[in-house]
Amino acid sequence: MISTTKKFTHYLQQLRTKASTRSQNKIHSLQGQISQLRNKVQELSLENKVKDRRINTLFDKARSKGELSSNPTAGVSVPNQKLSLPWNKEKREFEKLVKELTSKQDALIKNVEAIKEEDRCIQVGDTIVRTHYLADLPNVLTLSPIHKLLHLPLPLNITYHIQGTSRGSMLEASKRRLSVLEAEQNERIKKGKNRDLDLDKEISEVNTLINDLVYDQERNFIVSLYTQLRAESKLDIIDYSKTLTQEMKDVECTFNTHTFGQLDAFTSTLPIAKDLIKRNMLLHTQAVVNLLPFLSKSFNDEEGILLGNSRINGTLVLVDLFKARNANINIFGTSGSGKSVTAKLIISRLLLRGIQSIVIDPEGEYTALVDAFGGQVVRFSPSSGFNIFQIPPSTSVNSHISTLKTFFSFYIQPSRYDSALLDKILVELYKQHHKPSLKLFYQACSSARAPFVQDIETLLNGSLSGIFSNEDDILIESDIVCFDLSQLITDELKIPAMFMVSSFINGLINTRDKRRMIFIDEAHKLLANKETIAFYIDLVKTARKRKAGVVSITQNPEDYREENGAKTILTQAETSFILKQAYSSIQYITDKKVFPLTQQELQELPTLGIGEALFIREKEHVLLDIYPFESEEEFVFT
Ligand SMILES: Nc1ncnc2c1ncn2[C@@H]1O[C@H](COP(=O)(O)OP(=O)(O)OP(=O)(O)O)[C@@H](O)[C@H]1O
Ligand SMILES: [Mg+2]
Repeated sequence: MISTTKKFTHYLQQLRTKASTRSQNKIHSLQGQISQLRNKVQELSLENKVKDRRINTLFDKARSKGELSSNPTAGVSVPNQKLSLPWNKEKREFEKLVKELTSKQDALIKNVEAIKEEDRCIQVGDTIVRTHYLADLPNVLTLSPIHKLLHLPLPLNITYHIQGTSRGSMLEASKRRLSVLEAEQNERIKKGKNRDLDLDKEISEVNTLINDLVYDQERNFIVSLYTQLRAESKLDIIDYSKTLTQEMKDVECTFNTHTFGQLDAFTSTLPIAKDLIKRNMLLHTQAVVNLLPFLSKSFNDEEGILLGNSRINGTLVLVDLFKARNANINIFGTSGSGKSVTAKLIISRLLLRGIQSIVIDPEGEYTALVDAFGGQVVRFSPSSGFNIFQIPPSTSVNSHISTLKTFFSFYIQPSRYDSALLDKILVELYKQHHKPSLKLFYQACSSARAPFVQDIETLLNGSLSGIFSNEDDILIESDIVCFDLSQLITDELKIPAMFMVSSFINGLINTRDKRRMIFIDEAHKLLANKETIAFYIDLVKTARKRKAGVVSITQNPEDYREENGAKTILTQAETSFILKQAYSSIQYITDKKVFPLTQQELQELPTLGIGEALFIREKEHVLLDIYPFESEEEFVFT
């Protein structure tokens, strides 16, 4: 793109000494200086010869009389050869100067010859360069033509010249145009002809423009857009030129070759802010905005972490995830698109900033990463379970009782579920025991002859035995913690466990003692029922106040339905990574207006490669290449 490649710099250097009048003048002035110096050298040579002869005769005489010895120890030493005399030094300096200027002149002449200008291109060394200008645009300009131009597989640079205009002169010019158009239309009517509809259309457009100018709703800019195509041969340049003009014609943009003056056109494409060919047009603010490919400001937060490179301009995207209105993040993408890898990269880079990451890991994908950093893995299996009765930090007993009621609703048959009785038993249990457990709860249910006692027994002694009945408390000690649920094979097991773990983490972040990012992989599993959805919504809504962010990682955004309120979870995140999407998801994103995406972005989403994402932060969008460093590969790809 507008990148300053090595070649480009090379052109620039050549241009600085190019075959412009400036260079020619310089060569002439050098020629003048050189000939003056040569004359001076000649004059000096003649003068010096006379002086040399005179002094040497004097010395010869002195020597023959024995007044001077050739023996250095005898006093004055005069060598026998010709003397090197001071006036010769001056001459030598002039000669040196002549030599320097001559080589400078030679270099200039050589450079002048390195650029050859033809009608439709220039040749710089071995490279053929052709400059086109944007001559026409569609009536309604969207971002897509410019994206198309950026993604053409051609070796091209794009240059913009944008200059503001004064409102007053624009208004005057528009009014003049309006009276011409109206006079033309009236003339037709006078002659008994029908109204010219094209004229009417133009009159209405000019009227709108005048209105916008009067009310200061629009500004106008003089804009030129040039493309500089490069090729190795003339055939190639013709071919590239054809591709450029035809492809852009498809999106109603006309690109023409600037003929007779390619050198000036070339100069106008260089980053020296000189538009020598002035192939410009007058555009409104909105049209100028759409003509610029820079959809986003650059992401360069000083306290940020590296997320990847912008695919548009290659710049690094460094973002402080805690700087936006909230630190919640969505990571969406089809299976294998790179969601978990993206999350792992964020975790490892947050760690460098001293931010704690807590991961709910249904598939055991994060354990290698956590081990690599010496973090803490809490595994859920019959042998190392979780005491569901442990009250999470900063959580009231009542609130935990309500969490437990939701948890038990997964295991108690609906016909046997008695909310009031369950509540009563749990309240009693916490009153009587400092540290309740599943076993004590089962005993309490038994004594109360609760209808759901058999369901609790299954939980305690059946295939799930051990998972929720561990009596040890969980202690979070590390800056990177993973709750590994991979040994809970079915969703029936995973979902209630995910819910309990999330509620534990929810309590943990209540402590507000540090910044934390909570990663929930396969987060759609938390959308199991009304209660879990309500919990999840509350978690994301309140995270910011508790110095935390929630990262929802999932395949299908459409799982977050509007009807049950889950869509709020998506819209509660200021940051989203949208990786490759299925067409059904795109339909949902468009229909439900989940993210405000342009037509071009919607078209691009299904074609993204692994690790490519549309990154959205507040209102900024950028296409991102997410990649691990070599040192990160071993733990992000496992
Ligand atoms: N940024 C990346 N750069 C290079 N390769 C990547 C990148 N992201 C993912 N991959 C490759 O793709 C594979 C799948 O990635 P990942 O596990 O992140 O997919 P996923 O979207 O989480 O899939 P699933 O929905 O099945 O969990 C990785 O093992 C890795 O080989
Ligand atoms: Mg994954």
